[in-house]
Amino acid sequence: MTAQKVLKLSELEQDTAVRVVVDKVPMAVVLDGNGEVHAIGDTCTHGDISLAEGFVEDDTLECWAHGSAFSLRTGEALNLPAYEPVPVYEVTIDGDDILIDPAVTREVK
Ligand code: FES
Repeated sequence: MTAQKVLKLSELEQDTAVRVVVDKVPMAVVLDGNGEVHAIGDTCTHGDISLAEGFVEDDTLECWAHGSAFSLRTGEALNLPAYEPVPVYEVTIDGDDILIDPAVTREVK
């Protein structure tokens, strides 16, 4: 699997998540307040809720349903009720293009 062009950097609003589907893999893509782009699995591990509909705060994305926040860096669930992590995908920026490889995930540390 190779990285695919998913979005333009100029299409992202800071601290707002966007849902994309790459090769049937749903992801939440976020431009954080430091100008870094993150891609994590879009489905909350507590329920079938799109995390992209949630709230970005610093480097976390919070599920609107019951308030679990997930690290945009590690995918870790930082508070209950969710306790399982979401996958984290490698993001490559090429000019204005955002490329993501749906097969590549980083390990939770
Ligand atoms: S569905 Fe996300 S915290 Fe419950």
